[in-house]
Amino acid sequence: MHKRLQAYLEYYRQELQKAYAAYFDKLQIPSNLKESMLYSLDAGGKRLRPILLFASYEVYGQDVQKTMSSAVALEMIHTYSLIHDDLPAMDDDNYRRGMLTNHKQFDEATAILAGDALLTYSFELILNDPLLSSEEKVILTKELAACSGPKGMVGGQILDMEAEKQSVSLEAMEEIHALKTGELIRFAIFAGAFLANASDDQLHYLEKYAYYLGLIFQVQDDILDVSGEEEKLGKPVGSDEQNEKSTYPKLLGLDGAIKQKEIYVQKAYENLKLADAEDSLLKALTDYFSERDH
Ligand code: IPE
Ligand code: IPE
Ligand code: MG
Ligand code: MG
Ligand code: MG
Repeated sequence: MHKRLQAYLEYYRQELQKAYAAYFDKLQIPSNLKESMLYSLDAGGKRLRPILLFASYEVYGQDVQKTMSSAVALEMIHTYSLIHDDLPAMDDDNYRRGMLTNHKQFDEATAILAGDALLTYSFELILNDPLLSSEEKVILTKELAACSGPKGMVGGQILDMEAEKQSVSLEAMEEIHALKTGELIRFAIFAGAFLANASDDQLHYLEKYAYYLGLIFQVQDDILDVSGEEEKLGKPVGSDEQNEKSTYPKLLGLDGAIKQKEIYVQKAYENLKLADAEDSLLKALTDYFSERDH
């Protein structure tokens, strides 16, 4: 991997860790709930959505402190989505981030509630952030709700469930992937650029960039579910096949999925250029999203 990117990932993973630990230190809530929320957050994960948010901010601005509450909120919502995604009623998986899934470590009720708590607490973080203006808080929470909820990730998750055991078209699969995965990625890109005062034009092209980046990310996730290594991934391989999911490799074959991903990478580059961000770390992150092995 690109040396500069590696250093960037390590640095911002630590910054994120410090920031969310501080939010939890002060938090007085039932101890089992806190333990279960922190169990999944502390399990790690690549932290790619917060890092994308910081990188998007840094294309147009300096000093990411202003983005910290949004970055933590986003990682908490992503973590909640994984806890619920792994439940027996959904993908029914036993391992996540190299550890037992939340419902295996605790129980289903606790896992459901830990997810609910991560979701709602995330909005509180943004709304209580003294570094943000009232207007910024309204715009950020409005976007975060849209990206996470029925028009975003949750909507995509139900389409994903409905597409099990079905054969769907490429267009239908793009919609599922864009919603279930793409929308949280879109929030990362939007929030960073918005807080750094990017122009309307730049925001417009960044949104298009984020759409393709979301597809790249989930196509690679589908590919890794077929050809990845469980130890590197920290989650099971073959889960999609077992659940008869609609995935890119299932529709197009492994080679077809890789070719389709390349088309999305080119589209992502084009829009990055139009957003005046082609020399930024977002370019290296795009390549990393496409080529990652975990
Ligand atoms: C997994 O996301 C779920 C998808 C949206 C494909 P990540 O691959 O970012 O998971 P973590 O955060 O690193 O565990
Ligand atoms: C899940 O997609 C996306 C979410 C919104 C959680 P997957 O079901 O493919 O994610 P993994 O492979 O379990 O991480
Ligand atoms: Mg799933
Ligand atoms: Mg899953
Ligand atoms: Mg997957």
